[in-house]
Amino acid sequence: MLSIALPKGRLSDKVYGLMSRIGYNCESFLEDSRKLVIEDTANGFRYFLVKPSDVAIYVERGAADAGVVGKDILLESQPDVYELLNLGLGRCRMAVCAPNGYEENSGLPLRVATKYVNITKQYYSSQNREIEIIKLNGSIELAPILHLSDVIVDIVETGSTLKENDMKVLGSFLDISARFIANKASYKFKYHEINTLAEKLREVSAL
Ligand code: PRP
Repeated sequence: MLSIALPKGRLSDKVYGLMSRIGYNCESFLEDSRKLVIEDTANGFRYFLVKPSDVAIYVERGAADAGVVGKDILLESQPDVYELLNLGLGRCRMAVCAPNGYEENSGLPLRVATKYVNITKQYYSSQNREIEIIKLNGSIELAPILHLSDVIVDIVETGSTLKENDMKVLGSFLDISARFIANKASYKFKYHEINTLAEKLREVSAL
């Protein structure tokens, strides 16, 4: 049996849709929103539903053979997994954003609020810009509104969160989308099962 970690939240419907297009149904997660594991014994799949930022941990440690995760998480946490396929789902951008009317004082370290500490450090080091990182876990847009930070580094998908909070993108620097990943040992020992699934996904993925 192949175990697959799927992300909860905004990507989940898109992933269920992709799986159903290749003939696999994991939509019973939708019927019982508290269920975390479902089995499709006919096709030999067990699905786990986990927080998007945890998918790579389950796969890296072999608790799941494969999974679907955003490129943002892969870049941030650099897990030791195989990235097999760009699914083209959940496209968004990693961007620096600020309140409308914000003007940078280049003489001071920039205070940046983000969930993505490593991505942010790397980006500003490439810009030779001194920063102070304020690590938050959600609702990042609130930080500059409350003067906790000057700017944020976060993902922007539709742009509606920024718009509703009178903020704008100052510059985007990474394109993000969902990836199909595999545990390295599983890829060796369940090569056929994982590759068959990857090939089917490749045929229907949005690229
Ligand atoms: C993400 C991100 C932004 C928002 C962007 O947050 O952190 O806040 O989505 O999407 P948009 O451009 O379509 O508005 P998420 O909804 O994952 O929740 P969080 O604030 O708890 O991180």
